[in-house]
Amino acid sequence: MRFYEEKDYDALSQRAANIIAAQIILKPDCVLGLATGSSPVGTYKNLVAKYENGDLDFSQVKTANLDEYKGLTRDNDQSYYYFMHQNLFDHVNIDPANTNIPDGTKDDSEAECAHYEDVIASLGGVDLQLLGLGHNGHIGFNEPASEFPQATHCVDLQESTIEANKRFFASADDVPRQAYTMGIGTIMRAKKILLVVSGQDKADIVARAFFGPVTPEVPASILQFHPDVTIVGDQAAFSKIPH
Ligand code: GLP
Repeated sequence: MRFYEEKDYDALSQRAANIIAAQIILKPDCVLGLATGSSPVGTYKNLVAKYENGDLDFSQVKTANLDEYKGLTRDNDQSYYYFMHQNLFDHVNIDPANTNIPDGTKDDSEAECAHYEDVIASLGGVDLQLLGLGHNGHIGFNEPASEFPQATHCVDLQESTIEANKRFFASADDVPRQAYTMGIGTIMRAKKILLVVSGQDKADIVARAFFGPVTPEVPASILQFHPDVTIVGDQAAFSKIPH
């Protein structure tokens, strides 16, 4: 695992965007696995700036997002579809036909999740997967569990996740109780992984996930077994790891 410690959120966002830009420059038709949440917002801002400066071309890039709330329509401003358009897709020259996000409006979980795995396979797999990190160690929406879920699946969100994400909704009652998420197996098959994390409130989980035992109780800990992981964090998030 490679750790880049940056002084603050702006610096970590620049670093992460540089890594993604390098991927796009080296392989213009690469497949990017994308993430939502507050952590990657700055990364997307920097990617948009690089596009506006003429330094990046998204015309051949394909994307597959990690997860989506079940039950939210695409025009709901809390859906991850909406988020991705607001933060990235609407501001760069990506072909919307090349972007993929699980469809939260599909009721049949099994069919939608199987379809999403097929979509990723048809893209030839993910070259670079961007991740955030939940306070309980979740990646995508893979919550702590007794085993690592393999494929894309429908998950019941834990109370702590509903609590953490309610800031984006009118109230905790409005947070969907379920989501579709790539599985741990899906994530681990990405050729490269880039995780962005910031803030003192993530310091404990960074230490547990990357310096503690590998356990499905801390889903991100599985990344210790991936051959090409880069963790980009600020000083606060890295304050409890060995230096
Ligand atoms: C959310 C998302 C994750 C994200 C995580 C952390 O629930 N499903 O993909 O990485 O929680 O979010 P944040 O970056 O806002 O702390």
